[in-house]
This record gives sequence, C-alpha cells and structure tokens, in this order.
Amino acid sequence: MNAAVRATVRRAAFHGLQMYGINHGYNGLMRGDIKEMTLGSVGDIIHRGGTILYTARSEEFKTEAGQELAVEQLRRHGIEGLIVIGGDGSFRGAQSLTKKGFPTIGVPGTIDNDIPCTDFTIGFDTALNTIVEAIDKIRDTATSHERTYIIEVMGRDAGDLALYAGLAAGAETILIPEAATDLDEIVERLHAGHHRGKKHSIIIVAEGVGSAAEYAELITRRTGWETRVTVLGHIQRGGSPTAFDRMLASRLGAAAVDLLLEGKADRMVGVQNNQIVDVDFDEAFSKRHRLDLSVYQLALSLSI
Ligand code: F6P
Repeated sequence: MNAAVRATVRRAAFHGLQMYGINHGYNGLMRGDIKEMTLGSVGDIIHRGGTILYTARSEEFKTEAGQELAVEQLRRHGIEGLIVIGGDGSFRGAQSLTKKGFPTIGVPGTIDNDIPCTDFTIGFDTALNTIVEAIDKIRDTATSHERTYIIEVMGRDAGDLALYAGLAAGAETILIPEAATDLDEIVERLHAGHHRGKKHSIIIVAEGVGSAAEYAELITRRTGWETRVTVLGHIQRGGSPTAFDRMLASRLGAAAVDLLLEGKADRMVGVQNNQIVDVDFDEAFSKRHRLDLSVYQLALSLSI
C-alpha cells in the first residue's frame, strides 16, 4: 500500500496538484485526521510493508451521518477528489461518497486477491511469497520427521492465496472454498501418495474452509498418522513488498490520479492481461471474483 500511496502523491505532484493523506481510513476522514503530503512525505517508503497512513475498519462510516461528515471534512479541506486503496468494503464506501457528489476512484489492495475486474490486487504477491517461503521451511522438517503438515493461510472468502501457494510450494492437497473436497478424497490422496513412497505430506487449508486444527484432527483419526499444524496468521500481511507488488501499486496509484484529472469518478482501476484498466464500481459490484479453476486442476494433476 505504501508504494501506491507514494505513486499517487508523486504522480499528483508531477501534474502540479496539491495532495492530502487521510490517516486511519474512513474513521480518520470523519474526524478530519487529514495532513498535507509532499514529495518528501512519501520518500523511503516504497520498500516498507503496511501503510504510513494507517488503516481501520469503520462501522460508523456505513451510516448516512458518517458519510455526510466525511464529505463535509473533504470540502472543508478544499479536497476535490479522493483515492481509496482497499477492498470491496472500501470501494462501497467510496461509491457512497460519489453518490453524494464527491468524486472517488478505488485502487484494489488486499492480500486475498478477491476483487473482481482485476487479475491481481496489491499485497497478494507479497503475501503469497511469504507463504511459499514458510512452506519451504516447513517442508524441511516435514521431510526429516516424515509427518503430515497442515498449514492454514488467510483468505476469508477466496482461495487464491492457498491455491497459488499450494501450486508454487508443491503441496499434496489444497483446500479452498471454491472447490469442495471431501474428507474421503483427501484421505484417499494421502494414502495413494504414501503407497508410492511419499513419507510426508503438506496440506494447505484456506481459512474460508475451516481451521487447520480441525482438519489435522480428522486426518489423524482417519489415518492414524502424526500431524502438525501451522497457522501462518498475520505474518502474511506484513513485510517488504515484492517487486511485482511495487510495480502494480505504482501503476495503479498513478492511474487513479490520471483518472480523477480526466474528470472520471465512481470507478476502480485494475490490471487485466498486464494492461491497466478502469471499471465502473457498479460493474465491479455486479461481478464476483473468480478463482481460476484451471490452476486448481493443474495443482491437483502435479501433486499426484
Ligand atoms: O481481507 C483480508 C484479510 O487479510 C483476510 O484474509 C483475513 O481473514 C482478514 O483480513 C484478517 O483481518 P483482521 O486483521 O482484521 O483480523
């Protein structure tokens, strides 16, 4: 997200615009926690995880009164357009401001990669690389101890992190919300691998299908094998962003500024087939993010 903040501020400065940063998301906006941003305020942040603007989930902003307060604050500061980095909830908030006559553009940022109309979201690749690095380490001990490891990764409603990490790290089984896998099938795959001489197994569970602990218990009960559980948790949400994420954030952040300058609003920017695109919020809300099931089939076929 820092790379996106940097890109918007620098692109705006390039166009001679004045920029403000809003701390703590919509919560900060309603309270007027707004500061002027200069070229210097975004120096030395492109390689840092998190966001220098902080973030927050806001219930109050979902109310009519909260949104009116937000528009009032924006106008009071002489702000004419707003760029919101976030996911579905953030975009719906942005649209509510546009409906009140305030131009907004959304930049997709979430590790879950669950926003429609963009192939990738900012943060996904960094989280993915963190997961793969962790699994590589777990694999060493899985091999040495000849055990079954069940690793739980984030992704509230989407299995992208689990799927891509499972394929990239060579997991035996990947459990994602988009593809129902029953326990019989999991056990069958584990036994088949065992019979072919596999001494260890790695199973990735997307948090959206249940907890790793539950699956570990079920698998031990059915196979009698020793299992170990790792919940990667918030380690997936931090760390220095990958080059891919920095590139994506820079391109999307700059595109958002350009769109506002063209007089466009009520849209999100995204990347499709490596081209930067912009899409109406309503169109994005009418679609669901679709996980690429061919990648799932590929992972299954390679993990036999
Ligand atoms: O939506 C992004 C996400 O990282 C999910 O993958 C995860 O379930 C959730 O946020 C964690 O949220 P919090 O940090 O508020 O517990």
